Amino acid sequence: MRHLISPLDLSVEELDYILCLGQEILKFPENFSHICEGKKLATLFYEPSTRTRLSFEAAMLNLGGKVLGFSSADSSSAAKGESVADTIRVISSYADICAMRHPKEGAPTVASMYSEIPVINAGDGGHNHPTQTLTDLLTIKTLMGRLDNITIGMCGDLKFGRTVHSLINAMVRYSNVRFVLISPQELKIPDYLRKEVLEQKNIEYIETNQLEQNMPNLDILYMTRVQRERFFNEEDYIRLKDSFLLDANKMKYAKKDMYVLHPLPRVNEISTEVDSDPRAVYFKQAKYGVYVRMALIMTLLGLDSEKLFFR
Ligand code: CP
Repeated sequence: MRHLISPLDLSVEELDYILCLGQEILKFPENFSHICEGKKLATLFYEPSTRTRLSFEAAMLNLGGKVLGFSSADSSSAAKGESVADTIRVISSYADICAMRHPKEGAPTVASMYSEIPVINAGDGGHNHPTQTLTDLLTIKTLMGRLDNITIGMCGDLKFGRTVHSLINAMVRYSNVRFVLISPQELKIPDYLRKEVLEQKNIEYIETNQLEQNMPNLDILYMTRVQRERFFNEEDYIRLKDSFLLDANKMKYAKKDMYVLHPLPRVNEISTEVDSDPRAVYFKQAKYGVYVRMALIMTLLGLDSEKLFFR
């Protein structure tokens, strides 16, 4: 049995397989509408979510399966003090697979140690968000036709943004990917990513606080919100929250074929005037999240037509 806790749990071969399956589902969704009949997905969300929880649920329903779960710690027995280990032992007898979001880094790892069903990390604190990464990769691969030879700008809260951490870990595995890391000084990527991932693998990157002047060089601009819920004090959040604003004027400096991604939710870092720019693909990206989660559920349950992985 396999779990998905970090993007590194998947080999590049497995990653590419899931993305190809996601593209196949995107083209022919009706071919997959009965594959999970009789199977149940549990969504265990100890932290708020719109896209991740509902796209997981949509994915399982699209596959003909059923869903159960909770959408906040308050509405589960965590509010009475139940541990993640005990909860997952119980859920293992209610469902065939589960997706867990938790504010504590490592909680899905703990769950996987006690689980009898595959556990998918749906976001753990400021650490990882591997299924957002699958969504991001499917978006880039589908729109650009490749995952290599890309200059990607990542802008905003690179310190607490778990989607950024997971995406860097995934993209360094493709050749000739360069990073332009755009953030305030206080919100730069964690040291471990700089030293143990980018520098150790000799990846080309720059760190800067300039968005506009770097726009012309980017193939992808990955915008992120400042993660209010991870700050220790509100004053720092208020000081940093408006560090960057992508607006129509800044888009004039971008390549004609650059794409703007954002894991969403957006707060105010992208002006709504950018939404109508054909290069703004964040709503399409959220839609692709359903297809890639369908592909992931199928492969973790060993129901993929080729049965190549995860048996
Ligand atoms: N991208 C993402 O994780 O969104 P939600 O917090 O709404 O799930």
